[in-house]
This record gives sequence, structure tokens and C-alpha cells, in this order.
Amino acid sequence: MKKYLKVDPWLIIEDNFNPDNHRSSESIFSIGNGQFGQRANFEEDYSGKTLQGTYVAGVYYPDKTKVGWWKNGYPEYFAKVLNSTNFTGIKVKIDGESLDLSKCEVLSFTRVLNMKEGTLSRDFVAEMSSGKQVQVSACRFLSMAKPETGVISYSIKPLNFDAEIEFTPYLDGNVVNQDANWDEVFWKQIKHEVDGNEAYLQTQTKKTEFDVANGMFVKSYLDNAEINITLENSSKEGFVSATYKQKISKNSELKILKYISVLSSLNHSRESILSDAKKVVREAAAEGYDKMLADHKQKWASIWEHSDIIIEGDAEAQQGIRFNIFHLNQTYTGEDERLNVGPKGFTGEKYGGASYWDTEAYCIPFFLATAPPRVSKNLLLYRYKQLDKAIENGQKLGFTDGAALFPMVTMNGEECHNEWEITFEEIHRNGAMSYAIYNYVLHTGDEGYLVDYGLEVLIALSRFWAQRVNFSEEKKKYVILGVTGPNEYENNVNNNWYTNKIAQWTLKYTLEAVIKVKKANQQKYSALIQRLKLDENKEYKFWNEIISNMYLPEREDGIFLQQDGYMDKEQLTVDKLDPKHRPINQKWSWDRILRSVFIKQADVLQGIYFFENEFSNETIEKNFDFYEARTVHESSLSPCVHVVLASKLQRMDKAYELYLRTSRLDIDDYNHEVHEGLHITSMAGTYMAIIEGFAGKRVSNGKLVLNPQIPEKWTSFTFKILFRGSQLRIEFKGGVTNIENESEVPATIILKGKEYRIGGNDKINIKI
Ligand code: BGC
Repeated sequence: MKKYLKVDPWLIIEDNFNPDNHRSSESIFSIGNGQFGQRANFEEDYSGKTLQGTYVAGVYYPDKTKVGWWKNGYPEYFAKVLNSTNFTGIKVKIDGESLDLSKCEVLSFTRVLNMKEGTLSRDFVAEMSSGKQVQVSACRFLSMAKPETGVISYSIKPLNFDAEIEFTPYLDGNVVNQDANWDEVFWKQIKHEVDGNEAYLQTQTKKTEFDVANGMFVKSYLDNAEINITLENSSKEGFVSATYKQKISKNSELKILKYISVLSSLNHSRESILSDAKKVVREAAAEGYDKMLADHKQKWASIWEHSDIIIEGDAEAQQGIRFNIFHLNQTYTGEDERLNVGPKGFTGEKYGGASYWDTEAYCIPFFLATAPPRVSKNLLLYRYKQLDKAIENGQKLGFTDGAALFPMVTMNGEECHNEWEITFEEIHRNGAMSYAIYNYVLHTGDEGYLVDYGLEVLIALSRFWAQRVNFSEEKKKYVILGVTGPNEYENNVNNNWYTNKIAQWTLKYTLEAVIKVKKANQQKYSALIQRLKLDENKEYKFWNEIISNMYLPEREDGIFLQQDGYMDKEQLTVDKLDPKHRPINQKWSWDRILRSVFIKQADVLQGIYFFENEFSNETIEKNFDFYEARTVHESSLSPCVHVVLASKLQRMDKAYELYLRTSRLDIDDYNHEVHEGLHITSMAGTYMAIIEGFAGKRVSNGKLVLNPQIPEKWTSFTFKILFRGSQLRIEFKGGVTNIENESEVPATIILKGKEYRIGGNDKINIKI
């Protein structure tokens, strides 16, 4: 854990410059707008440790797989999210000396991420080796209102001398990924143009041939009055710049505004992309910084209007949850069904692929509660559109007749992860696909989704499970062998309880969906099963047979066993682990981890969380105690699930401890890896921890259920929820629940077991 940032409800503040924290801060202070995003790299040159990162949504490169020992079935490539043209850079020279914070003395430094308004700013005073002192102020944002644009304001004031300042804003397309498998350059340079204060670059990814065009349009100001400075342009393949040189007196301020545009061929034709980039950046410059900022802030205000959680009495918890909500909204805005939520979003290279099961298992609940249903539907449609590829993926691994195995990691529907124990074995991901469909229909009531898309996916998933099980003559049960469960600290195990459970449940849910779809639209149903060549008698019968005879390992005392043989392990608990050995994934050899009893992330408990209605409180409690004691939470996706269960069991101390861990995981760097990027998908889990954990939100028979409990430290907490057409503001304070219906649509709520109806624009206060 590393705590160096100040606590504030809306701001993340770093108030001194420590180069050892810089890479972590580059992640934490990242900004984005759903279309593109970037790490908080400095504008001016920096020769210290840095991970340069600018990423464009949906643009990737298939980096040829590198493994020591090739295995049949491995994907040919790993899809990398690409570091693309650096549009942030501004080289600064002061009387000919380059400004570089790793080479001068930093006298004061503040970096601020304003989460309310979506801006990143930096103010510092630096003393150059010549003894000259300068004050620098920089502020930038990537527009949420016009998501192909952004702007950087950068100003400098000499404090103890008259100076000649040289600014060279540039676009640099000659960039690489640090995680490139073969040290390849992923980009081809297509065009470069510069003319006075405007400069443009068009680049193209090799192999995948995505084009990205960037524009910059610069304006300069002396003491806030616009000035014309004679420029010197430079232009070569992949690099364009404009150099501004100006003599200014002590305490005067020279500023440039660098407007930028970032366009990709996902939305523009290759032929017009460069001229479109010109148009977009010129329009931005004509609109001006103030107007762009006002529109951007307004957009953020409306995002917060739906998604904010207000916590009174606990500043750390407040900052933590807003940090999570902020980054989720920067990563995915829900407008484009070709995009998804990558585990690191726009904040780092690791986890190069865009979609994991994280989206379905963790992010869907966040978007369901905070955004209109079309946003979650777009996420479901992303998978629907990749169904053919999932069937192809199944075929590659020997499955037939339309059985689908969705990839563990993908950008375009093809599997691109190549660790055998994950690629081939972590098949539980298929279960998250069906669970997300269930969750979407449960929350929105949109059963039409099943008719139009959902059932088709469910059938393909059920066909997969029906082929993946085998009948054990010894157990007289269906078993699933050779898998990796959510707990990746075990590989190639037999009968992972969670996998078997979700396979069985998927088959059940598919059969329920069949009944619903038949009832809703017999014609569409008949057309579907004809198209899928589905033999109802044979296949449904077999699915029922598996449902009734699935093997689910369980001890006599009601503990579900993570997998066959789990009890053979030396039964240690985490509290006995020497802190020096943690995190074990950084301190222990892999074989030691695999043999140990310690669990990376919720596994059996993930299943209990999904299917809690099937279990008594006593069973949940037993399993929680058993597995929480053995879980090291070294996946960011873990603590949130434990918070929900701990809250259900009224273990509020435990729930609160784990909540802080999930919500401040990156701000306080619990897992010692924030320098690589943020854990975007687990941030949705943090939201889940409050809403499903502390507020006890569930949906039952089309009604919203709440069972609130407030952590001791909090005086109140408030959130909004979009539920079946109504928008509710829900506050828990001093033993009273205040619910305000901010929409016209009436809502029915079950609060602590009692039903209340709240008319449109009405409110209720209930003492509980
Ligand atoms: C977790 C996976 C997860 C992936 C991406 C891994 O560390 O074990 O469950 O899908 O990270 O977030």
C-alpha cells in the first residue's frame, strides 16, 4: 500500500514531485472520453521513468504470439491496445535550456485530477541548473461533449529573469508499445503535414489497417492577450511540430493553447480522415477553450447526475467511490456497440485485449443502475455480434453443431489470449455471458431482448456445456474436467464448483428462456430453432438430464468444494501468512502458488453471489467464513464480491474493510501494480459493493428491493438508480430512508421486506 495522495471529495491531489511515484501517478491521473484516452504523461520532455500512453478506442494490433512451447489451438496473436500518436507533447526551452523535471530542482508541484469537471492540471515551480526559476501551469481535458477533440493549455512565467521561451508543440506518431512481443513498430506513417500553427498526421496500424488521424491547432498568448509569433515548422515522417520563440520579461506569462483532434477509421473513411481531422480541430479552435470547457463540464455534470454516490462522514470512502465512477465513465460511454470496457481502459498496456468476462460479470450491474438500458444492451450486443466467431472458436477446439466458446480476451471476437490454462481452461467465462443476459432482463424487464438476440446466444452456450461435460461412471454424475476457475491460482482442476454450477444454471436458464420466447413470439422462436437446426426433443432432454445430474462437490457440512481434491491441500489461512510473503504472486514461485490453499479471487463465493437465492443464510455464512479466510484478493475483482456477501451476513466491519480495499485499490496501490495502469473493470465492482452490498439492492418480481445498512463511520449515503423508467434518488441517513422519484414513472420498492409505492415526482421518508 502506498498513500501519497491527498484526500478530497472531488479531487485527486499530488502535492509534491517524487519521481518514484511518477509512473503510478501517470495511471491514476489518466483522462479519457470513451473515444480515446491517455496516461497523465507530462507535456514537456521527461527523461525519468515514464510509461507513455495514448490509446484510441477499438484500435488494436495483433501482436504475434510469443511462447516458449507452442501448443495446438493457441491463438496466433495477442490483440494489443495500441499506444498511438502522442498529441500531448510540448517541448519547452528556456534560454536554450530544455525543461525536464528530472533534470531540474522542483521547488513546488501540484497535480490535480478534477473528477467533477474532468480536467487534469499541473502547477509547478522549477529551478533550472542555471538557477533560473520558472512557474508552469498546465491544464487539459479530452472533451466529453465533442469526443474527437481535446485541448491543452500550457503557460510559463519566468520568475527571476527576463527569458527567451521556446515552445514546440508537436504530434509524434513514431511511438511503440513497451509490451510489444517482438519489439515491432505497430504503425505505418501515412501522411504528415504542417502549415504555420496547424499540423496533421495520419498513421495506420500494420495488419489490422486502422487509420488514425490527429490534428493540432495552436494559439499563443502573452499575458492573456492573443499574439502572433513567427513560427518555424518541422515535418518528417511521423512527426510534425511548430516552434514558437518569444522574449518575455520577468513575471510575464507566455501561454499556448493546443487544440487537438483524434479520429479513427472506425468512424471515418480512410480517404477523408485527414481532411475530417482538419475540420474537427479547426472547429474546436474556433469554438475556443472556454466554450469547450463549459460544454465538457456540463456533460460531466449530467453524468454525475445519474451516477454519483454521496457519502457523508468518510472522506476516504467518498473519494474512493468517485474515483471509480469517474474512470468508468471516461472509459465507456455506451454510445458504440463495437466498443467495450478493457480491464485497464485507457490507462496502460497490460491486458492488451479489450473484453474479458469482467464486462459481463462486473460492469453490467454498474451500467444497468447508472445509465439508460441501451448502454448495457450495447454491451450485450457486442457479444451477440461476435457469436459466429465464438462458434468458430468452439470449432477450433473440437466443439460442433453451433456450440459457442466466447474468448477469454478479445478485440474482434477472436480469442487472443495464449496461456493454455486460461485460453483453453477458463471456460467459466461463457457462464458470465449467460448471466449478463439474465441480469439485463431482470433489471430492465426487457424480455424482447431474449426474443431478438438473447435466446440465440443462450442456445449456443448451452450446446457448449452439453458437449463439455462428460458422464462419470464412477460418480454417476456429469462432470467437467480440466478447467481453471475464476481463481487463477489453480489450473487444470476437475469439477470446479463454480464452473459446474454456472454450466448447470445456464442450461436451466436457457430452457426458461425458451418458454418465454415461445410465449412471446412463437413465429420467431420456430424460425430460430429451424435456423439453428435445433432438435428440441433430443437437445432439451439431454440438457435436463445434465441439470438433474450435475456433479457439484460439497462437504458434508455444507462447504462447497472449490474443486476435487481441494481439501488435500495444507489448510492454512491468510492471517497466518507472513506479510513479507504478500502479494504471493510477486513473492512466490508459480508452483508454490498452485499447490497452496490460497485463493486469488472469489470463486465459490462468486457462485454464491450470483445465485444467493438458492442458499440459506447458514450455508452462505459457512462458505463465506471458509473462503474469505483463504482468499488473498490478488485480483482486483475479488473484494467487491466479498463485500456484498459480508453485508448480507451483516458483517459490516469486514464489509467496510474490504470496501476500502476495493474503492481505494488504485489510489492507495494495494496490489503494488498501479504503475501499469488502473483496474477499470473492478471499479464497477466497487460500485456494486455499495449498491448491492451496503444498500442491499436486488430485483425481485420486477420490483426494486433494498436492505440498507450503513457502515459505522458514515453518517449517510445517497445514490441514484435508474430502474424500469423511473429515476430514484435514495438516501440513507440517521435511521431514515428518503426516496425521491425524480421521474414521472411510478416505482414500487420493497424496503426491508415492506412494499412502498412512490408516484411520479413524489417522495417518501421511512424510518428504518
Ligand atoms: C483475473 C481475471 C480477469 C483479468 C482481467 C485477472 O487477474 O484473474 O478474472 O478477467 O484479470 O481483469
